[in-house]
Amino acid sequence: MYNAALFLHLLGVVLLVGAVTTSLLTTLRVQTAGSVAQLRSLTAVTKWIEAVIAPAMVLIIGCGIYLVSQRDDHGSVPWNAGWVVVSLVITLLLVVIGVTVEASDAKRLHTAIANATDEWPQADLRAVQLASRPVYVVFFGTSQVVALLFVMTNRPGFVVAIAACVIAAVASAIAATIRIRSVRRAALVSDIG
Ligand code: HEM
Repeated sequence: MYNAALFLHLLGVVLLVGAVTTSLLTTLRVQTAGSVAQLRSLTAVTKWIEAVIAPAMVLIIGCGIYLVSQRDDHGSVPWNAGWVVVSLVITLLLVVIGVTVEASDAKRLHTAIANATDEWPQADLRAVQLASRPVYVVFFGTSQVVALLFVMTNRPGFVVAIAACVIAAVASAIAATIRIRSVRRAALVSDIG
């Protein structure tokens, strides 16, 4: 039973990594799309991402909690071990950000595209397309999944587990800022031209 739960936990991780990578690439591509038709086809992908992330999170959190509760027979891990608490808190944080911030950004983009004509560029649509929050959020999510892979495989205490997540978050914010600035500069040049 324990090994089956570990398998399902890792299956959830595989699905999550696939969904997060697709989400990252889609968000970056949305920023540089050059027509309404391109934006429409890109946002069609987001429905698939949402459909994969929910079951992935259920598998990760559900099986993860089961694994900790059974772990005494497989080596001793207390519920208050740093890596357990940090992974649980960050995973739940990712779920909350996903259903609130990410969902509302996706809805805003869908609505802007639904209301758009085929003319290009359009100011309203351009503002949503070049919004910075979705980029920060998707970089943050990706960085935390990578940090949690480190935390899970090394099982550190609180200090190292939190440091890993903070370092990943700071790196993601820097990468997102660089990306947003370069895309906005290119958009300005292309819209003026
Ligand atoms: C995105 C979040 C997560 C990722 C990427 C992740 C990833 C992993 C990976 C790769 C392993 C195998 C590590 C190894 O055998 O060396 C693992 C094991 C484990 N995970 Fe997670 N995990 C996540 C969330 C959680 C959560 C929230 C919990 C529960 C609090 C949890 C509990 C466990 C336990 C107890 C094991 C050890 C199983 C064993 O080796 O016997 N995980 N996880």
